[in-house]
Order: sequence, then C-alpha cells, then structure tokens
Amino acid sequence: MTVPDAAAAALKRARRVAVLTGAGVSRESGISTFRGSGGHWWKRDPMKLDTAEAFRKDPRLMWEWYTDRRAGALAALPNPGHEAVARLEAAYDDVAVLTQNMDGLHQRAGSTRVLELHGNITGIRCGACGPAPSPPSPPPGGWGGLPPTCGRCGGMLMPDVVWYGEPLPAGVWEEATRAALSCDAMVVAGTSLAVSPANTLPEMAKSAGAALLEVNPEETPMSGMMDASIRDTAGAALPRLAELALSLKGAAG
Ligand code: APR
Repeated sequence: MTVPDAAAAALKRARRVAVLTGAGVSRESGISTFRGSGGHWWKRDPMKLDTAEAFRKDPRLMWEWYTDRRAGALAALPNPGHEAVARLEAAYDDVAVLTQNMDGLHQRAGSTRVLELHGNITGIRCGACGPAPSPPSPPPGGWGGLPPTCGRCGGMLMPDVVWYGEPLPAGVWEEATRAALSCDAMVVAGTSLAVSPANTLPEMAKSAGAALLEVNPEETPMSGMMDASIRDTAGAALPRLAELALSLKGAAG
C-alpha cells in the first residue's frame, strides 16, 4: 500500500495530530462494526437499540446485549492499527485520539490521550444519580439478570455508554472540539461518520486548516472532503502511516 503524497506531506508538516476512530479500527481485533460490510451486533439496528428508552423498556435485553459486547471487548486485544496510533505519539508534540469506540483498546495499545466520545462499555453508571462509585461486581445471577440497582439511590445501573440522543460526557466533547480545531492533520479511521456530533469533527478540523486523511476500505458520505483517502484496513494502513510519520519526523527507533 503506498501512502498518497498529500498524506505524506500532511504528516511531514503536522505538529499536532488528531485521530478520529470508529468501529472499523477494532474490527481486526474481532469486534464487529455496526454498519458497512461489518455485521450488526445481534443483527439489530444500534440506532434503535442503543437508546435510554430501549433500556427502560427492556433492561434485561439491554444487559444481555451489553454483557455480550463487554465480554467481547475485554477478550479482544489491540491490533496493529491501535498500536500504530499509539506509536504516533513519538512523532508529534500532541496526538489526541478521539474515539467513538467503547472497548478501551486504544488505551491498552498505549495511547495516552484518548477521548471516549461514546463512553466505555466496561464502565457502569446509575441512570439516576450518575457514575457508579465503582463498577459493582456482577450480582449473584450475573449481569445477564435484571439490571442491578444503584446502592446510593436505587436507580437502574446501566453500561457507562452514551445512548443516542444523550449529551456526550461532560468535558469530553469540549476537549474533542479543541483537539479538532487545533490539529494540523486529522486521521479519520474506521468510521462511517454516520453519527453526530462525532461526524462534525472532521469538518471542524478542516475549517481550522487541518488536512484530513481517511483510512477506510469503503467510501463514506464524507470521503469527498478528505485530502487523502487510503482504501485499506486500519490494521494495514495505520502502521504504514505511523512508520512514515516517524521517519519523516526523524523519530524512527
Ligand atoms: N479497517 C478500517 N475501517 C473498516 C474496517 C477495517 N478493517 N472494516 C470496516 N471498516 C469501516 C467500514 O467501512 C465503516 O465505514 O469502518 C466503518 C464502521 O462504521 P460503523 O460500523 O458505522 O462504526 P462507527 O462509525 O464507529 O459508528 C459510530 O454508531 O452505533 C453507533 O455508538 C455506535 O460509536 C458507534 C457509532
């Protein structure tokens, strides 16, 4: 896979890089995507299932679905794509990872500045009074049972993820927009850019003068605004980009 000249020039010029990632980056860790050629979890539309109202309507189904997804995330390992994103930190003054993924794999790969736009599937929060003091151990029947209740207020505990229609975690969105507006290059990898407000970050970066580099085997509705598109998987393309950035910046080990 050759890196397009526009991408190489952007990586050479950049000092601050933002990496916006989606489910496609975790696909090679065995975690399914939601759209595109990937499968749906449980063959359901996440836009209909990942809502606070769906949770209240059928908490047991939601806990079973999330138990499945949490187990998948905890069993998964970072892949070369995640590791490459972490290696970028040796080439640039600032690398902000703005991820829509909830699996924690960027952190486990070594990235030190990860903004989880949609929360983290291994966390637990109370639907009524806020973050659970600490993820409680599974109830005797395991998480597959009825949702556990909050020890503080008796409210329903739920996965610490952002439901559709809910605001993103306080402070995370502000920091993500700051990163988008201050980066010189944004790598947009493994995302269909179907969900807002995450899908407004590339536009924000571009409006502030950043180059947009897309890594996705498929086109997305926003491919037209990219300065360079690499039609390859994250596991193949991101290591190439990291290797190039490190050599261009003379930081190669
Ligand atoms: N490498 C890179 N990209 C890939 C790969 C791969 N190996 N495999 C698939 N893709 C691409 C697909 O072409 C698609 O464009 O990854 C993208 C995955 O898109 P989605 O499944 O829509 O995932 P994402 O963009 O992260 O979804 C955003 O939607 O349901 C919500 O909360 C959920 O955070 C998620 C949000």
